[in-house]
Amino acid sequence: MDIRSPKGVNQGVAPVTYGTGSRPPRGDYGRARSDYTCAQDFAQYSEADHQTYRRLYERQLQQLPGLACEEFITAVQQLGAPDRIPHFDAISERLMKATGWQIVGVPGLIPEEAFFALLAERRFPVTDWIRTPEEFDYVVEPDVFHDLFGHVPLLFNPVFADYMQAYGAGGLKASRLDACELLARLYWYTVEFGLIHTPQGLRAYGAGILSSAGELRYSVTSSEPQRVAFDLQRLMRSRYRIDTFQASYFVIESFQQLFEATAPDFTPVYREVRERIGREGEIEAGIVLPGERTYAAG
Ligand SMILES: [Fe+2]
Repeated sequence: MDIRSPKGVNQGVAPVTYGTGSRPPRGDYGRARSDYTCAQDFAQYSEADHQTYRRLYERQLQQLPGLACEEFITAVQQLGAPDRIPHFDAISERLMKATGWQIVGVPGLIPEEAFFALLAERRFPVTDWIRTPEEFDYVVEPDVFHDLFGHVPLLFNPVFADYMQAYGAGGLKASRLDACELLARLYWYTVEFGLIHTPQGLRAYGAGILSSAGELRYSVTSSEPQRVAFDLQRLMRSRYRIDTFQASYFVIESFQQLFEATAPDFTPVYREVRERIGREGEIEAGIVLPGERTYAAG
């Protein structure tokens, strides 16, 4: 079964991936339900798996102060004790009380439409297997550490939680409008690699950054990448790299700004973005256009 090519799914870009390779996803899709969710296979975890989780968690946790946004730092403890891979049900219980979200197990990457449908129901899919020790520093597909540590804490924030649901609903609509590639850029540059400007300075809120050992510090403090003020249409015209640290980040002023900027119907937005791309082309990562507001490191 090729899980990347069911009906209506844009095969070019998947918003949940770090790049779709030629080899099939490693998860066992035979145990997944029709909506791609599956029970967390807790029995599969070895002591080595728990140890990998603990080491990853410890490494990231000590990096958070001064680099991660406060909302994330406050919520990360909601994941429970860091010494073992947590039970999804226990986190869901706390999350449900906080923002009405739950997390559900999945065997790995799932098709876009299935992903959007889950988000629209306030169910966040979490891969239930963990990387091998050899993949400690880099794993191609999202694993349980990326999905839990990177994504779940901000689901405890009410505004961000609403944004994620709206993204899912927007994704279902984008599938019908054949606009998934443009919408995937929004996911990439916010949910995965977003930066937020705070009174204390720039901070990370994107899961791809927060779960990365090297990119967390790079994204906030390096003078190499460009950091451009969030602008929806500009962002949708922007290409991104999946194989290196990002050359560009988009910076929001608040989660409220992000929610409000993405609340309107995207139908005319997609049209305008496509027209603009037709006239002026897409924008490569790392480029700053004349007159654009940018942010300095830190
Ligand atoms: Fe992710």
